Amino acid sequence: MGNFDTLIFEKVDSIAYITLNRPEVLNAYNMRMRDELYQVLMAISDDPEVRVAVLKGAGDKAFCAGADLTEFLTAPSPTVARQVRWERDVWGLFLRCPCPLIAALHGYVLGSGIEMALCCDIRIASEDVQFGLPEVALGIIPAAGATQTLPRVVGRAKALEMMFLGGRVGASEALDIGLVNGVVSRSKLYSTASDMARRISQFDPRVVAGIKQAVTRGLDLSLVEGLAIEKILAGAIIDLKR
Ligand code: COA
Repeated sequence: MGNFDTLIFEKVDSIAYITLNRPEVLNAYNMRMRDELYQVLMAISDDPEVRVAVLKGAGDKAFCAGADLTEFLTAPSPTVARQVRWERDVWGLFLRCPCPLIAALHGYVLGSGIEMALCCDIRIASEDVQFGLPEVALGIIPAAGATQTLPRVVGRAKALEMMFLGGRVGASEALDIGLVNGVVSRSKLYSTASDMARRISQFDPRVVAGIKQAVTRGLDLSLVEGLAIEKILAGAIIDLKR
């Protein structure tokens, strides 16, 4: 895959590593990053060799400090922005990615940063992590999925508190409310995420993808409908192995 300005993409065995790479601006999410992430996520989704992907941020201070504020003033009109969103639906691609996505989170994880992390299946954080959705203070609502993804992860009340107040959530609170799967020291963050990725990658990828699909699709359905999906997927896996 080509060189990127805002990302580093590496494939080690069957694990893909995506590093947000604008450390001088705390990996702020700009339009270039959006386009490059789109390209990488498409490639990962189509690559049968990739069994797990790990998303992380370059530099000491942040996974991602949110949307690039310098682009706010130059952003296209709402109509164009909407059209671009449909042409480049990065968040939809994240959510449709068939393989597990693990986010390794450190430092600031704000705005689009937390929204990206919420599109991942597993979140591992280091002790210095600080989550937040500062949009309310900027006069906008989170628009990269957090109004939908955050309540599904931490429940309605905590999600609304975070979005109404725009405050910060540190590592221990994030663990308490289920925003992250685990907290480790900064020095162990990437080895923990990689180790988890390696362990998952040892299982049959069709089974792992089936589990992911059953859970993610089922969460938007009633229990009865979800159980029906589970039955179909479980049957499909058995058929594949015959
Ligand atoms: N967009 C563009 N640039 C950003 C950025 C963003 N979201 N967040 C940080 N940066 C830039 C800063 O402008 C600064 O650039 P400079 O060195 O050229 O001045 C650099 O990254 C380092 O940030 P700095 O503010 O000096 O670090 P800090 O440790 O003092 O503060 C934050 C860190 C995250 C608290 C602060 O940068 C911040 O509030 N950023 C904006 C967060 C935000 O509102 N995001 C949008 C959500 S929708």
